[in-house]
Amino acid sequence: MQRKGIILAGGSGTRLYPITMAVSKQLLPVYDKPMIFYPLSVLMLAQIREVAIITTPQDQEQFIRLFGDGSQYGLSLTWIVQDSPDGLAQAYTLAEDFLAGAPSALILGDNIFFGHGLPSLLAQADANKHGGTVFAYRVADPERYGVVAFEDQKVRQIIEKPQNPPSNYAVTGLYFLDGDAPARAKEIRPSERGELEITSLLQMYLDENLLDVQTMGRGFAWLDTGTHGTLLEAGSFVRTLTERQGMQTGSLDEIAWSNKWIDDAALEERAKLFTKSTYGAYLHSLLSD
Ligand code: TTP
Repeated sequence: MQRKGIILAGGSGTRLYPITMAVSKQLLPVYDKPMIFYPLSVLMLAQIREVAIITTPQDQEQFIRLFGDGSQYGLSLTWIVQDSPDGLAQAYTLAEDFLAGAPSALILGDNIFFGHGLPSLLAQADANKHGGTVFAYRVADPERYGVVAFEDQKVRQIIEKPQNPPSNYAVTGLYFLDGDAPARAKEIRPSERGELEITSLLQMYLDENLLDVQTMGRGFAWLDTGTHGTLLEAGSFVRTLTERQGMQTGSLDEIAWSNKWIDDAALEERAKLFTKSTYGAYLHSLLSD
């Protein structure tokens, strides 16, 4: 079965208050694009065309205004509501009907990945059909994340926001799991902070030796954008790359076109929509290159 994608773009965004009191965090700009473009671009780079986007009830309408049915990118989008932010693992129970037994790649709507070789890393994770794959990334502040505990160079445990982190390796917000994830997610009980933790789900896979933890090396950037500082840093990062290279990151139109999901004429049509922005000029330049 083809792997399907899920973007978790609900949440409460309280760390970004008052900005996120009236708008979803995942619609805020990261330099020149709405934040959600970046995680969606990762799923598209993983060659995933069927994607469910999970939002809060009040924000769904705006996301639909942004993306519609996704056909402009050669995608099929499904819209799912999460009534309250009860935790990341809830994504799997909410998306159970959408997945219909298929393996999935879940990505958090506020995570940005960048690096040479990302498509091949994603292709490897997709090829692992039994169990799952997650990515560990070295960070200076592991206590903010799910942290990997190694024993004899093997991953034994993933601990959510530990006070004394057993390593500097955080689990990033991109999870490739097999078709059993929804059934397993139903077994999870809320944690002390009242959330259905993704680390509980990952620990189940780990306990059965079914979880591959791949390290994302120093050639990759993994940014999350949940605070004012990190949001600004992510924007500067994207701006630096874009201006230095004259190439875009997170351009959904470009990825759809290079995946051959849309043809030259369709890209030309899209470029016309954006004639007044540098994004439109960029799309035009792809066609003339
Ligand atoms: P978090 O950053 O952990 O939480 P949040 O976005 O609600 O923000 P804050 O901590 O400032 O209140 O969420 C990580 C990502 O997952 C983010 O993109 C929102 C999304 N999310 C959901 O969609 N549903 C959920 O139940 C949770 C907990 C998060």
